[in-house]
Amino acid sequence: MSSEHKIVDKLEEEKNLPDNDLTALIETDTFNASLFESADRVRKSVYGTDVYIRGLIEFTNYCKNNCYYCGIRCENNALSRYRLSQQEIINCCETGYKLGFRTFVLQGGEDNYYQDEILCAVISQIKAKYPDCAVTLSIGEKPYKSYKAYFKAGADRYLLRHETADDDHYKKLHPKDLSLQNRKECLWNLKEIGYQTGSGFMVGSPFQETGHLIKDIRFLQELKPEMIGIGPFISHSSTPFKDYKNGNLELTLRLISILRLMFPHVLIPATTALGTISPDGRELGLKAGANVVMPNLSPVHVRKQYALYDNKICTGEEAAECKGCLERRVNAAGYQMVISRGDYKRRIAL
Ligand code: 5AD
Ligand code: FES
Repeated sequence: MSSEHKIVDKLEEEKNLPDNDLTALIETDTFNASLFESADRVRKSVYGTDVYIRGLIEFTNYCKNNCYYCGIRCENNALSRYRLSQQEIINCCETGYKLGFRTFVLQGGEDNYYQDEILCAVISQIKAKYPDCAVTLSIGEKPYKSYKAYFKAGADRYLLRHETADDDHYKKLHPKDLSLQNRKECLWNLKEIGYQTGSGFMVGSPFQETGHLIKDIRFLQELKPEMIGIGPFISHSSTPFKDYKNGNLELTLRLISILRLMFPHVLIPATTALGTISPDGRELGLKAGANVVMPNLSPVHVRKQYALYDNKICTGEEAAECKGCLERRVNAAGYQMVISRGDYKRRIAL
């Protein structure tokens, strides 16, 4: 057996590898076929061919932060800003429920206009109307007591990517008022409160090295999140990183497979960013071990304004079209969408 196959087999068996083997897997593309195959086998042993859908509601593009990579950073004056009302958010859920969504993801910039009382009211209204649905929040760093309040109001899950687990690299991607330490603290708080917690990182962000990716993986091993979201960095023309090159498709796919093999039960989305850098990026993501897709449920008239990066896909389609489009893609890749909350599975079903 070639040494490449040996490394992949060892990863599948032991769910871990020393740094030098991980480096080899990350840096070379000769492993791709066996890596993807092995990851798909493991994903099927836990989740079969099921793909879970999450209805993404981008409810505000206001953000108080100024991350160098992100299109909705506060210093981007070229962007027109919007906020959805409570009723508009509920309307998105109504449309989504009829289409078969059983998870709603409320995502937005860090926008203090939505005080905890407002967010709690929205969360509890969604949970009262759709008790069979999960609510996921993706609204950034908040104090412990806010996280606790949203959880009490009924939120089930929280997405907060750590972005990079290397302190110096973190400082190169973010202004001084943001720190990796606070990011990590937020993640530990979310876990402690009882959320199904998601973290993750961008692939190919400016200044990223293999050593940073290994640190990302090691941090995830420590955190043990229920969800891991990764996607390629894509430059945005009105940010300080406008001239940096985009993350690489194959490297992103290899990392999805590595994560699937290390965390057989984790929920991994084939992200919109992956579909943006390559027309069949999401299909390839599913084949490499991802088992979640996130069609857009935001009202079409605000879609283009939620531009974290340039050329984002799914910005012109109505919710039903976007879901239909993704369903065809999921089927073409050999999987099927299911109507389910799609919770994290702790054990392999017997
Ligand atoms: N390219 C790719 N992903 C980005 N994100 C933010 N800006 C970009 C970009 N330019 C990702 C971050 C964030 C998530 C919501 O979107 O990882 O956590
Ligand atoms: Fe949204 Fe294709 S998945 S338009």
